[in-house]
This record gives sequence, C-alpha cells and structure tokens, in this order.
Amino acid sequence: MQNHGQFLEIRVANEIEPLLRRPISIYNIQGEIVEFVFQVKGKGTKILSDKKIGEEIDVLGPLGQGTFNFKDKKNIAIIGGGIGIFPLYELAKEAKKTAKINMYLGFRNKDFVVLEKEYKDVSDKFTLTTDDGSYGEKGFAINFLEKDLKNEKIDGIYACGPLPMLKAVQKLAKETNTPCQISLEERMGCGIGVCLGCAVKVNAGEETVYTHVCKAGPVFDSNVVQI
Ligand SMILES: Cc1cc2nc3c(=O)[nH]c(=O)nc-3n(C[C@H](O)[C@H](O)[C@H](O)COP(=O)(O)OP(=O)(O)OC[C@H]3O[C@@H](n4cnc5c(N)ncnc54)[C@H](O)[C@@H]3O)c2cc1C
Ligand code: FES
Repeated sequence: MQNHGQFLEIRVANEIEPLLRRPISIYNIQGEIVEFVFQVKGKGTKILSDKKIGEEIDVLGPLGQGTFNFKDKKNIAIIGGGIGIFPLYELAKEAKKTAKINMYLGFRNKDFVVLEKEYKDVSDKFTLTTDDGSYGEKGFAINFLEKDLKNEKIDGIYACGPLPMLKAVQKLAKETNTPCQISLEERMGCGIGVCLGCAVKVNAGEETVYTHVCKAGPVFDSNVVQI
C-alpha cells in the first residue's frame, strides 16, 4: 500500500528569492505521473503558475512520515475544506477499493469550487457545501458529517482543511468516539525537519512534546495532536 497524504516541496525558482520550497500535497498518482493542484496565494505559487508546459521544476519528495491509514476500514468519512481537499483525492481513490466513501467538501463560495466531478467519482456518497450557499448545500461540511454520524456507523474520519474545521472535526470525533486522522497544512520552511518552522504539540503519554509537522506528519491521529 502506498503512503497516502504525503507532500512535495517544490522549488519555484532558481533565483535566490524565493529561496524556500513550497509544500504542495500529492493529489493523484497514475503510474509514474504524480499530479498536484494548487491555488495561487502569494509570490511562490504565482511563479509556479507561470511555468510553461514541459518546463522542468525541482521537486523534493514524497515527504512526510505520518500518513493516512485506512486498513480494515469499511465505511469512512473524508472531509476537506478549501486547499485541504487536495491530499484527500488519492486517499479516496485507493480506499474506495475496500470501503464505502462518504465525502464532504466545503468551500467558501461557488468561485472556489474545484474538481467536483473528480471527487464525486471516487465517492459513494458526496456532499458539497459552500459557506454562503452559492453552490451545493449551504453551511459547513462538518454539519452534514455530524448528521450522518447519528444515522450510521462510520469507522474512520479523515480530514484536511482550515484550522477551525480541523478543530471541529477533532471535537466531533472525540464526542462520537470515532477514529480520526487529520492532515495539517502548517506553514513550512524547509519541509525536511531542520528549520523548526512547523512545530506542533502532541500528547506523549502524560506529557506534551513538540514535533515537526513536516517529518512526523502531515497526518496525525486526532487524539494525539494538539491544534
Ligand atoms: C503539507 C502541506 C500541503 C499543502 N498542500 C497544498 C496543495 O495541495 N495545494 C495548495 O494550493 N496549497 C497547499 N499548501 C499550502 C501552500 O504550501 C501555500 O499556499 C504556499 O506555500 C504559499 O506560498 P506562496 O509563496 O504563494 O505564498 P506566500 O504567502 O508568499 O509564502 C511565503 C512563505 O510562507 C509559506 N506559506 C504560506 N502559506 C502557507 C501555508 N498555508 N502552508 C504552508 N506554508 C505556507 C510558504 O512556504 C513560504 O515559505 C500546503 C501546505 C502544506 C504545509
Ligand atoms: S518545515 Fe522546517 S522543520 Fe518542518
């Protein structure tokens, strides 16, 4: 089984600035082709979006040791928000071979909705929400997951998205005693565990210790990581 939820560190330019690589999730793997999808946020992603077809880019990866584990799961919920949906596609595609996939995707509004058909095709049950109701269901994706959790036994939740969404998923998983993994999209410098730019608190027995999202994650068990 491949490691799902890993990411790439992409050098967007050969010049000194921007020096730091940008972390981008693996979206889809097809044979030897690895696909990623990104939103233009600032300077780095803008430079990346200006690349021409066929132009070479310097990519480091796959990175991250904390990955999604869906072994023996039969009925899972996958919930993503915004750019957090991207690492969930490959997970859904693979997990669908052995489990029922309940997919919940949340976007700010209609303009941010992407890849609807692709995600629908790897789902058995598909819910798309927008915060303002301009497309799909109105509201937050988690509200629909919460409703479904009352009616059926879901044996695993997998989430990636903005922090408020992840916090709500973590709380819901705890309340319903559902195993859950969350993928963090922390700001990163090096992506390989040397700059300490991505520290996060995790429970280690009675203690709280710091670990690196880029090395120990980006995927963590929701009852272990403190967000
Ligand atoms: C593990 C991981 C996976 C990601 N996967 C995706 C993806 O599949 N698609 C996608 O569109 N975006 C993804 N992101 C977010 C993406 O890395 C940022 O949007 C991008 O780095 C912004 O760079 P910029 O130069 O355009 O913006 P700027 O704001 O100019 O970036 C400045 C610095 O901040 C860092 N940074 C800024 N925002 C983020 C952020 N949200 N997360 C981490 N570092 C950030 C950059 O690496 C850079 O060092 C992911 C982030 C992480 C950590
Ligand atoms: S990004 Fe540098 S240690 Fe994680």
